[in-house]
Amino acid sequence: TQGIRPLIAGNWKMHGTVREAARLAEAVREGVEGVDLLVCPPFPHLHTVSVVLLGGRVAVGGQDCHAAGKGAHTGDVSAAMLRDVGATHVILGHSERRADHAENDAAVLAKTKAALAAGLIPIVCVGETEAERLGGLAESVVRGQLEGSVPYGFVTAGGIVAYEPVWAIGTGRTPTEDDIAAIHATMRAALVERFGPAARATRLLYGGSVKPSNAKPILALPEVDGALVGGASLVAEDFLAIARAA
Ligand code: G3P
Repeated sequence: TQGIRPLIAGNWKMHGTVREAARLAEAVREGVEGVDLLVCPPFPHLHTVSVVLLGGRVAVGGQDCHAAGKGAHTGDVSAAMLRDVGATHVILGHSERRADHAENDAAVLAKTKAALAAGLIPIVCVGETEAERLGGLAESVVRGQLEGSVPYGFVTAGGIVAYEPVWAIGTGRTPTEDDIAAIHATMRAALVERFGPAARATRLLYGGSVKPSNAKPILALPEVDGALVGGASLVAEDFLAIARAA
């Protein structure tokens, strides 16, 4: 989108040792001129990665956080803890969390509010399953998820939305350029309807099998302001090549 600086975000998911994470961070830390970069390592690697990236051009984010500020929540991590170790962003409502941990829109909404309250920029993920796409429901599913998981105050705080069709994640398949453009236009319209013209500056990322060979045309689509990259973000060269395509 005109006037929006692109963001290329890497979701490292549950991969690698802390040593590998540090090496990957080291390899990407100079970033790419004119593009914002972000990497989201697994929790145990976050602090190390954020130290490696200090003074570099790449920001650090979490892959999830709890909705509560603190308390008896064994195994969970708060937004404030992410902030404390240097994170500026957090991915929320990824389809893998929606599936593995039964997170619904209400849960994602609560987490997004917690992230905003802690001063983190949330990246809220939405996207249809293959059955929903085949049933012609992609746009309505995405609209519903946006409505349900994006809180008041999201746009002014710089909240980010990522469109990740579930069937395109880790499969090597992507929607057609027209289909990506259509969903992104729908998301933009829904956000502007709800939040007003300020939502024209909200970053809308595409995610799902983005790699160096398909990044350029996808990133050139109207209303696509960057990418949320899984597999290809684990290879420094590929991640930087995608950033250069932005
Ligand atoms: O969050 C990014 C992710 O779900 C996309 O994964 O491996 O298809 O790029 P991948």
